Formats: sequence, structure tokens, C-alpha cells
Amino acid sequence: MAKTVLVTGAAGFIGSHAVERLVKRGDRVIGLDNLNDYYDPSRKEANLREVSSKASAQKWPGAFEFLKGDIRDRQLVADLFSDHHIDAIIHLAAMAGVRISIDDPGLYYDVNVMGTLALLDAAVGRLGTKRTEKLPTFIFASTSSVYGNTQTVPFVPEDTCDRPLAPYAASKRASEMLGHTYHHLYGLDCTVFRFFTVYGPRGRPDMMAYKVLDNIFTGCDVPLYNNGNMYRDWTYVEDIVSGLVSAVDHPLGYEILNLGRGEPVLLTDFVTGIEQLAGRSAKLTSTPMMDADIAYTFADISKTRSLLQYEPQTSVPEGVAKFWEWYQQVVLPSSLTS
Ligand SMILES: NC(=O)c1ccc[n+]([C@@H]2O[C@H](COP(=O)([O-])OP(=O)(O)OC[C@H]3O[C@@H](n4cnc5c(N)ncnc54)[C@H](O)[C@@H]3O)[C@@H](O)[C@H]2O)c1
Repeated sequence: MAKTVLVTGAAGFIGSHAVERLVKRGDRVIGLDNLNDYYDPSRKEANLREVSSKASAQKWPGAFEFLKGDIRDRQLVADLFSDHHIDAIIHLAAMAGVRISIDDPGLYYDVNVMGTLALLDAAVGRLGTKRTEKLPTFIFASTSSVYGNTQTVPFVPEDTCDRPLAPYAASKRASEMLGHTYHHLYGLDCTVFRFFTVYGPRGRPDMMAYKVLDNIFTGCDVPLYNNGNMYRDWTYVEDIVSGLVSAVDHPLGYEILNLGRGEPVLLTDFVTGIEQLAGRSAKLTSTPMMDADIAYTFADISKTRSLLQYEPQTSVPEGVAKFWEWYQQVVLPSSLTS
């Protein structure tokens, strides 16, 4: 049966893909995003336009309604829950930069923790919105960064994760725990997903895949941390969306699950793959690893497989090829004229 899903961060990278998939399968989606300037908001507006035009051109059965607003605006969030019967919330809106969070930890806590709290309060009816029926399922986007420098490899969701290395990771871990509290106190179904380095079309300009191509084509300076000697469990955005959608359909009580691919790739190999597709070499600046960084990420996805039938479909070479195709069609024409 079609559901009504609130997607926060709907205009962003992962959010726009989640909206697309849900509308395509027939759900009604309410998107909330404040279109902040963490990166160029015109990219987010373009994401929204693309999703809306695909939905109408291809006559997808679901519907998409977008609201520009801030998750910290408790009145706005309360009104959303009064005006709509929401079956699930995919909560992606956040300040998402690990390194930048060191410069502005207060903002990261305000958006990531207080914003999440406003949504949790609304979901359980604490903002004056009476819920007489079943509570919505709350799906929260956390991060592999919460594992810090764990020595348990691959990373397992049962790890205590009490030593985050950056305010971003600490804010996500705090929100994961709030999710548990609301599950315990109010019976809210809450699935926490720890995403592992997501990439793909509409990718964030501050992330490595994008920056390598920008370096090649616009010559902008890009640091290569630890001389590329870092492993990342790169995960294609459509695989992440499959996990999110499965969680909409399968409330699990309270669970923490990894959403990765489970096959880490060396950063230099990832960069080489992009260079081969572009047919040119990047000139990256070798830079020591930052204190907030980790040398490897590696997801154990066995629990996600068994609870949500999650099975990543896109290999890193396939995903990088799709990313390159998008970059050529969408980003390159505008970078070369600007
Ligand atoms: N991309 C990754 O590799 C990755 C890895 C781990 C976790 N995550 C998490 O996934 C989620 C989505 O990340 P993304 O890569 O799509 O980032 P993104 O920046 O493209 O998307 C986040 C969106 O949230 C919106 N937003 C930020 N603050 C808001 C607020 N106060 N109110 C309303 N909207 C707000 C932004 O405008 C943006 O469109 C984030 O929670 C992020 O922490 C991403």
C-alpha cells in the first residue's frame, strides 16, 4: 500500500535519490529542506527540478510536495505532522562535513541534534500534534564516522562507538541515542543507518569523487590525505536508497545497521579509476591525515542483509562510471563556461 513519507534533506544528494525512488514506486513524499549554502544551493534547486520533471514526464504514480524550511523550526515541524498523516520519516537533513564540524561544533550540534529532537518530538506527538494511530517509522541517517578509530574491523553495529573523533560524528552518535530513548519511552520504531562514503550522480561537491574531477577539469587544489593510503567502503547512492526504502517497509523496533558495500577500496585506486575514465591525471596535493580522520572504513553488513534483505548491487567501477557520466553531462558544461 502506498505510504506518505517525510524526507528531510530532500533537495540534497541522497535525499533527492530517495524522493525519486519513493515517488516512482507510488508513495506520496513530502520533502523538507532549507536549501542551505553549505554548497551551492542552485545544485539543490536543480536536484528538485530534475526529480519533479522526471516524475511528471514519466507519470510516476506517487506524488511529491516540497516545503522549504528548517528542521529546527518546531512550529513548522508540528504543523507538518498535524496537516499530514505521515507513515515514515527518512531523516537526512544535517550538516554533513566531518572536517568543517571542527570549526563550528555549535552549528553541528544545533542542526544535527536539536533538529533531530524536533522531528522525534513531532513523531511521537510531543509538539501538540495528537497521534491516535500508529506512530511513524523513524529512519535516521548516521555515519561510519561514529566508529572513530575502532580496532574492530570490519565495523559492527554492536561496537560501543563512544570515542568519536569530530563534532560531526559526536552529534550523529548523540542523535542515534536519542532515537533509542524515544523508542524506549514512546515505542517509536527507529532504524539508524550508518552510511559508508556515499557517491554517485548529484554527489556533494565537497566529496572526493567530485573533487578529483574538479581538480582535473578546473585545476582547483585538492588535498590527497595520507597520500591516498586510506581505505573507504565506497557505497553507490542507489544501494543506500534501497536500504532506506526497505526500512520504510519493515519497522524493526530499534536497530542500528550499517549501510555500506562491505568491500573497502584504497583511495589511490578509487582516484585512478576516475582518472582512467576522464582520460587525464589529477594533480592532487599530498597532505597528512587530519586528527579527525580515520585510515579505513569497512562495513559489516550481515545484520542489514538479514533484517532488510539488503544486497548492494553496484560495484565501485560501475558506480564510478555512472558518476563520471553524470559529471560530464551536468557539471562539466557549467564548469567550463564559468
Ligand atoms: N554522503 C555521504 O557519504 C554520507 C555519509 C554518511 C552519512 N551521511 C548523512 O546522510 C545525510 C545526507 O547527506 P548528503 O550527502 O545527501 O548531504 P547533502 O548536504 O547533500 O544533503 C543534506 C540536505 O540537508 C539540508 N539541510 C541541512 N540543514 C538543514 C536544516 N536545518 N533544515 C532543513 N534542511 C537542512 C541541506 O540543505 C541539504 O540539502 C546526512 O545526514 C549525512 O550526515 C552522508
